[in-house]
Amino acid sequence: MNTLEIKKDIFWVGAIDWELRDFHGYSTERGSTYNAFLVMDEKKTLMDSVKSTKSDELLTRARKILPSGNLDYLILNHAEMDHTGSLPAVMREFRPEKVICSRACMDAVIEHFGKQDWPFHVVKTGDSLSLGRRTVRFIETKMLHWPDSMFSFLEEDHLLVSSDAFGQHYATGERFDDEVDQSELMKQSAKYYANIILPYSGLVLKLLENVKAMKLEIDMIAPDHGLIWRKNVPAILQAYGDWASGKVKAKAVVAYDTMWGSTATMAHAVIDGLISQGLQVKAADLKGWHRSDVMTELLDSAAFVLGSPTLNNGYLPRMADLLCYARGLKPMCSVGGAFGSYGWGGESVKLLNEELGRMKIDLAHEGLKVKYVPSRDDLDKCRELGISVGRKVMEMLGA
Ligand code: FEO
Repeated sequence: MNTLEIKKDIFWVGAIDWELRDFHGYSTERGSTYNAFLVMDEKKTLMDSVKSTKSDELLTRARKILPSGNLDYLILNHAEMDHTGSLPAVMREFRPEKVICSRACMDAVIEHFGKQDWPFHVVKTGDSLSLGRRTVRFIETKMLHWPDSMFSFLEEDHLLVSSDAFGQHYATGERFDDEVDQSELMKQSAKYYANIILPYSGLVLKLLENVKAMKLEIDMIAPDHGLIWRKNVPAILQAYGDWASGKVKAKAVVAYDTMWGSTATMAHAVIDGLISQGLQVKAADLKGWHRSDVMTELLDSAAFVLGSPTLNNGYLPRMADLLCYARGLKPMCSVGGAFGSYGWGGESVKLLNEELGRMKIDLAHEGLKVKYVPSRDDLDKCRELGISVGRKVMEMLGA
């Protein structure tokens, strides 16, 4: 199995998950990688491990670089099982003298594996550790992605090992950002941010400020998923700054489902109104769109418009799925609207408006419901709804 020296005496020894298609409800159509790095200094140090099903890949790769003997240190930047599932195998094979991690990570690892006798050594922000010719500096990054998460910065190598941050679920044979299709790389980075990091955007902004204040000289960022950033370090830092600060454009996501076609027809008229005001529109027919792709499009959208007919005094199940998922991720768009057809009760639009309110999205229109099948007049009103949302977006953006 291939390994790769990413910096002098620092080797990628992770695993590639070509088949992964779901990560907590996030569709990972390009698979993923679990990155781990072996540092061959005076202290032989493994940074992170991999998912349990990939233990053999990690052990085989690491043994190519360290054919015999034990590790001195194992650094755990994060306790989630995609990075610690192989810990029992690593501990058996390499018997590290110290397992270095944050206190929250130690607690989580003990709770997952029940192994209080592993040789934990707790570190916090500002602590550093000499490996011999190089020093590792630790920066806790609580909630990015779990309370235990941290970064490890290899000072002399200018290498930031960033755990989940700056990652992508993107399985490739290449390991560096400049070796793959750039638009796919940024698309997968945005999808990862929108589906994993988004609710913690406030913390991202603080972290970016702290990293700047610490004057870390970073020339490579190695996340625990996907490609390693060596050419586009400023670009991914800038993108995280933009995403975290909720920088949106004149764009709307119209997410809708339909029963007999009436709500879809209404959606087309709403979209027409939005376009007339100069907005870029993503028409997300939920019969074909995955919830995680809707979230990716929402990342830079100013407006979120919802359409569903009434079914059993509620809205359609695909809409419920999307809203349950989106609510937790806290999208930063701020203008909304809702529409849908009905036969008798007609509750869906009121409920969709309430859902938008829960996400702190302001309504540009009181909402529009149409009995059974929209008439030409009804479609004009749908277009008006789109125009109202579009105008409010343009007003907000000062365009
Ligand atoms: Fe890649 Fe939060 O684990």
